[in-house]
Amino acid sequence: MSSNAATIAAVQTATNAGAMAGVNAANSPERGRQPVAGRQVRFTIKRCEGPGKPSYWESFNVPTEPGSNVISCLQWIAAHPTTVDGKKTTPVVWDSGCLEEVCGACTMLVNGKVRQSCSALIDNIAPGEGDEVTLEPMSKFPVMRDLWVDRQRLFSALTRIKAWVPIDGTYNLGSGPKESPDQQATRYVLSTCMSCGCCLEACPQYNLEEDPEQWPTSFIGAHAISQARLFNEHETGKRLKKDRLDALMGPGGVTDCGNAQNCVKVCPKEIPLTESIAAEGRAVTMHAITSWFRR
Ligand code: SF4
Ligand code: SF4
Ligand code: FES
Repeated sequence: MSSNAATIAAVQTATNAGAMAGVNAANSPERGRQPVAGRQVRFTIKRCEGPGKPSYWESFNVPTEPGSNVISCLQWIAAHPTTVDGKKTTPVVWDSGCLEEVCGACTMLVNGKVRQSCSALIDNIAPGEGDEVTLEPMSKFPVMRDLWVDRQRLFSALTRIKAWVPIDGTYNLGSGPKESPDQQATRYVLSTCMSCGCCLEACPQYNLEEDPEQWPTSFIGAHAISQARLFNEHETGKRLKKDRLDALMGPGGVTDCGNAQNCVKVCPKEIPLTESIAAEGRAVTMHAITSWFRR
């Protein structure tokens, strides 16, 4: 997506931001507190004009309303790109899509914590008059511009472990194999992964790697290990289990996980990532032993 396209996408979708923020506010555990109407919040944003360019900081004073979220404030800044020093600047670029914590595109560091900016309500993250909000792009992905990063490596990891159910065509294949309610319950939560990158940003084993040539051997990440489990436990998906375990057995696979467990703490969908890592670790060990006996 071009920087203009990212801004346009954000502006187009942010027309729903007010309504979304209202929904989130209604669900907030802090809804008992009375938000203050019309107060100002200072946004300090790490900016960058393009890949490889140096980064710098700019601050903006933004008027907020009860229910404002980070995206609606970024929209305001896009329409009023003047810093606190009175300097005219370029509109800040960010990425977003669903505005309801489903697509993962708006993930960034909000006050130093990796999370989705669409669900970051100002009344929760900066409740007082003059409070400050800092915004930074994720550090484990190349910055395209300002808060917009390229998550391509994350999707390449899903290709690496064949995160799909194989079908041979579009003709009617009949009913699929039956799945027990227990299997469904286990797999359902795994299927809620939105490829946001939070688990990768928090992982000490996952580093910024801009060279795609290195991707097939650098650490694959908790999200991909969990998706391998999702598809390995699917009755049709398990036809590719051997290929997935081969990928997880190789360089950058499941044994590169240092078990720091940061990933599971930051996953917004509360996916049991360490359970998935342990399950796939056991499966890889069994796969290695059976492969050795088949030689
Ligand atoms: S448990 Fe593994 S994947 Fe999760 S943060 Fe730690 S090293 Fe990374
Ligand atoms: S596992 Fe969780 S944190 Fe990681 S990409 Fe999926 S939703 Fe995001
Ligand atoms: S815009 Fe989709 S998760 Fe925030």
